[in-house]
Amino acid sequence: MNAMTLIAQNAGFLPTRGSIMIDFVFLAMFGIILILGTSIYLVRYRRMFEVHKWIQVVTGVVLLLAVLAFEIDMRFFTDWQALAEPSSYGMGTVKGLLYFHLLFAIPTPLLWIFVIWHGLAKFPNPAAPSPYSNTHIFWARLAAIGMLLTAVTGWVFYYAAFVA
Ligand code: HEM
Repeated sequence: MNAMTLIAQNAGFLPTRGSIMIDFVFLAMFGIILILGTSIYLVRYRRMFEVHKWIQVVTGVVLLLAVLAFEIDMRFFTDWQALAEPSSYGMGTVKGLLYFHLLFAIPTPLLWIFVIWHGLAKFPNPAAPSPYSNTHIFWARLAAIGMLLTAVTGWVFYYAAFVA
């Protein structure tokens, strides 16, 4: 199968070599970061604790389902390496960027599960500041930074693998 047939068969909706699923995740990460920023702004400057809680729970569940769908697609249906093959960076660099991305992409969901679980278990209901606040703020900031770095390294990998 030549490269053009391969790209046509896996055509996503962006004018790149990404598949539908890869394009979707690439774009969705902009939304996730925007929503996360809004949620942190609302809890920090507006003290809207309940709104913050529900934004985090809903984005957490949606992300978990999206990651699951993405993993199934990558493992069983989409040959991303074939799509990345024409990259002018070469497969060595592309794979290096993928491993760098995975450094953040693997621990971050685990951290999110932990932060959401403990938040729900230890804050009062409805959500409000408590003796648990300092612990939450420490781990939740780490979780937020982890998500931001997952997005940024993911975008860089996408560019090198499916655009360049
Ligand atoms: C991955 C999920 C979450 C992230 C990334 C996150 C992020 C944050 C961040 C960064 C802050 C500190 C804002 C500041 O600098 O003042 C914060 C505060 C807070 N979060 Fe979350 N959060 C998450 C989940 C939750 C959940 C599930 C609850 C449920 C009750 C919750 C309740 C709160 C409360 C009550 C505060 C205010 C603490 C205080 O100022 O005393 N968060 N969150």
